[in-house]
Amino acid sequence: MDFELKTLTRTLICSEKADALIVLIPEGLTFGDDPLSTLAALAIKSGDLEVKPGKLLSAYRTQGIAATRVMLVGAGDASPKSIRTAVNAAMTALKTCNAQRAVLCLSALHDAQFETVRAAIVACSETAYAYATTKSKPATAKLQHVVVAVDGPANAQAAFDKAIGLVKGIELAKEWANRPANHATPTLLAGAAKELGKLPRVKAEILGPKEVEKLGMGAFLAVAQGSAEPLRFIVLRYDGAAKAEAPIVLIGKGITFDTGGISIKPATEMDEMKFDMCGAASVLGTFRALAELQPALNVVGLIPASENMPGERAVKPGDVVTSMSGQTIEILNTDAEGRLVLCDVLTYAARFKPRAVIDIATLTGACVVALGGVRSGLFSNNEALADSLAKAGDSSLDPCWRMPLDDEYAEGLKTHFADVANVAGRAGGSVTAAKFLQRFAGDFPWAHLDIAGTAWKGGASKGATGRPVPLLLDYLLGQVPAAVPEVPSKARPAKRSMPAAKTRA
Ligand code: BES
Ligand code: MN
Ligand code: ZN
Repeated sequence: MDFELKTLTRTLICSEKADALIVLIPEGLTFGDDPLSTLAALAIKSGDLEVKPGKLLSAYRTQGIAATRVMLVGAGDASPKSIRTAVNAAMTALKTCNAQRAVLCLSALHDAQFETVRAAIVACSETAYAYATTKSKPATAKLQHVVVAVDGPANAQAAFDKAIGLVKGIELAKEWANRPANHATPTLLAGAAKELGKLPRVKAEILGPKEVEKLGMGAFLAVAQGSAEPLRFIVLRYDGAAKAEAPIVLIGKGITFDTGGISIKPATEMDEMKFDMCGAASVLGTFRALAELQPALNVVGLIPASENMPGERAVKPGDVVTSMSGQTIEILNTDAEGRLVLCDVLTYAARFKPRAVIDIATLTGACVVALGGVRSGLFSNNEALADSLAKAGDSSLDPCWRMPLDDEYAEGLKTHFADVANVAGRAGGSVTAAKFLQRFAGDFPWAHLDIAGTAWKGGASKGATGRPVPLLLDYLLGQVPAAVPEVPSKARPAKRSMPAAKTRA
């Protein structure tokens, strides 16, 4: 499906040819005298259309309207959340008809700001998405082309472009997350990273077992040693700013299948452990979006990719390994493998002298118990970073919730046989996992997003969500230093009083 932006007044929209015209109707709409306004006013007055988000009324071959079908959709308070509900409902209804070209009209909304346009376009692509890669006869979607119609705002094109960049990122993340583990091995994942490396300002470097051994990543190696599939350590760079600018580092857990290892998982729903690389997929997706949008930032993406398998070579409960940091770890449970691959990469991240490091991981079942599928868990050693991430999550409709990191939570990680154990008791499992990671987060601002509950859906709508690409991209774009306007030299003050770089998180 492709998108196009058009600036159309309500009158012009009436003469826009399309198979379907979807019109978002907010509460308190002021009506003009064009046929569309007349239709909407009549429908509301007669009680046939409610403006609650997602309520629909369809009409066919309507006088004065060039589009074959018109669908009026309630958009409630026109908040991004309501827009999402409305567009989801309309697009789902559209799936059952023949439409190839649709116009999504946002012109009736009071002011179609970035958040509005983004919510509409993301919702559109969400409902249109269908996984196809491993189907012999994939269903072909009828709807090919969506025209997003807005009424004037000067920044609409920029908002539209950003939303399209985001959608490309989400779709790439979903694609790799949804692929079965035998179609998304560490090597294949590295191949996806190499493909990204062909895009402007993106570079990909792939390390294998030998290099990882040389780095001393004993914890990462321990997880990978049970599998016939060789590990890959993916190092991505997006260089959008001067070399001297400290980068933001994203680390994505890339366990392409998590059996639990010797501490093997029960059979029920074990297939869903193909999604244990959703953190990695979100990093790939974010890089896709960065390549599209070319912001003035430096970003590093690090992905430890491996399977977690039982077998004659597999690491055993009680084994002690030495991490890259030098700390020894007693692996009491081989199913707590995410933190093992991540801890070595957190140590590795320090070499970039990062501005901030964010790891993204489907880390604990306990986080699913705590927060369900609505908000990701957010842990951080830095207030400003935590605030920025929480805000980015809320505004991009990809929310997270700050969790605690009191030192008392680390008590259970103590052991007689190593510097630290990889598990504590059952209580507060998502927090104790984060406490383990925190030991390896150097003196840089660090945040950990536990996306175990939000990265995919189970049951009848099983599939990846593409989260937290919206959150990450919103955060990153918020870190781009505001352009200093060109001031004629006479008017320029001798000294700038506020160095912007220091106030950024
Ligand atoms: N990948 C899982 C976490 C997970 C489980 C995510 C279920 C989503 C749904 C992780 O590697 C894991 O197995 N964690 C263990 C940790 C435990 C052994 C301390 C868990 O959560 O059970
Ligand atoms: Mn596990
Ligand atoms: Zn796992």
